[in-house]
Amino acid sequence: MKYDVNYIRRQFPALSLKVNGYPAAFLDGPGGTQVPRRVIDAMVNYLLTANANAGGPFLTSQESDRIIGESRLALADFLGADPEEVSFGQNTTTLMFSLALALAREDGVQGAGQGDRHPVPSAGAKDGQRAGQGAGQGTRQGRRNEILVTQLDHEANRGPWEDLQALGFVVKEARIDPETCSVDLKDFEAKLSEKTRVAAFGYAANSVGTVSDVKEMTRLAHQAGALTVVDAVHYALHGPLDVKDLGVDFLLCSAYKFFGPHLGIFYGKKTVYEELPTYRLKVQSAEIPHRIETGTLNHEGIAGAREAVEFIADVGERFGFRGEKSGMEGPGPGEPLSRRQKVVAGMQAMEAYEQPLADYLRAELAAIRGVKIYGPPKGYRRTSTVSFTMEKLPSGKVSAALGEKGIFVWHGHFYASRLIEVLELERYGGLVRVGLSPYNTAEEVERLLQEVRRLS
Ligand SMILES: Cc1ncc(COP(=O)(O)O)c(C=O)c1O
Repeated sequence: MKYDVNYIRRQFPALSLKVNGYPAAFLDGPGGTQVPRRVIDAMVNYLLTANANAGGPFLTSQESDRIIGESRLALADFLGADPEEVSFGQNTTTLMFSLALALAREDGVQGAGQGDRHPVPSAGAKDGQRAGQGAGQGTRQGRRNEILVTQLDHEANRGPWEDLQALGFVVKEARIDPETCSVDLKDFEAKLSEKTRVAAFGYAANSVGTVSDVKEMTRLAHQAGALTVVDAVHYALHGPLDVKDLGVDFLLCSAYKFFGPHLGIFYGKKTVYEELPTYRLKVQSAEIPHRIETGTLNHEGIAGAREAVEFIADVGERFGFRGEKSGMEGPGPGEPLSRRQKVVAGMQAMEAYEQPLADYLRAELAAIRGVKIYGPPKGYRRTSTVSFTMEKLPSGKVSAALGEKGIFVWHGHFYASRLIEVLELERYGGLVRVGLSPYNTAEEVERLLQEVRRLS
């Protein structure tokens, strides 16, 4: 069936909001999408019927355990993972700090390619001490004391690694090509070595929409014996995830970017995650997937995240491609799809709807005097996120003027502050970012264009 944006829109109660008499146009998806009714209902139902802590021998606690378990299964389908590889947390940033601290511990996990321990005792350590232990003790002397990050990334996948410098790690940074806003793979490869413990990079850039070649970057990192940590927060709204196919060791995303509540989601490859020396309470389970889940989880959020996956599966069932076009193995026309297959089909259908709209938006914006678009050119993989500056107006003024007309867009650095520095965009107050989501319409795009023309 042809993609029906009105069917999608009917499921999102927030879309009926009005601002100064204008219908709200939610073009702020990369900062967080709106939430379908079924997600809201699942959260409310949890609180009404199952609210309890986990692990007890009574009804509501047992219900909580069941709901959390089912959500893990759903998120495993979303990621292409096994359920015991899927953990929940507060948000991606907090989970990333936990992961970075765990990987910095002396009793770290096995390396990806070469079988050495991560990190190893330093060659030059005296009196049983290891180099770089504690803050301010200089560079660790162990073989794997380097972390590679990129200029393209959100601070959530830079800051936690940069903080490890206080423990003696050396952080290197792969350059981007400023013309295409893409990671320079030659530079990335050149900065990997037998010293690299972790290569941390994003799947897609929340600032300008670049989709990186995660599979190739993972291959290169593993070839050097490093572990890979992928930030898939922006990508998760724009395409199917398949952690097994990518081969990544860790991948993180956040449900509020794909129709769910504010919740962080963590994938750890079983063999690596099982050995991850997380900081945790002695009374906490050391088994995966609980190893990184400190304290009581956000149960109602977890209940909602499952429904976000069901929403995507529903889109896939109704509007998804089948057979050849989907690139999926499995049932042909008319045969039932698994939830994983529906999710993949749903993500593909939403992206197939958004991409032509984004192309149109880019072409029309580029034709407006004083507007400059940033990000990968045609022919490169990119999400339906379009960022620009205006010669005459700082980005904050542009988004405020649009906001007055009920058009919601973000401006600034969106925590991808390194890219803004590299592109020297501080003078504009960063970028104006328009993010298309599956519920946005051609009419909303026209309204935005009309206002930008008026401001130019
Ligand atoms: C690409 C990217 N990475 C990480 C994050 C941080 O996610 P969270 O807010 O769940 O910590 C964001 C949030 O905007 C993001 O867009």
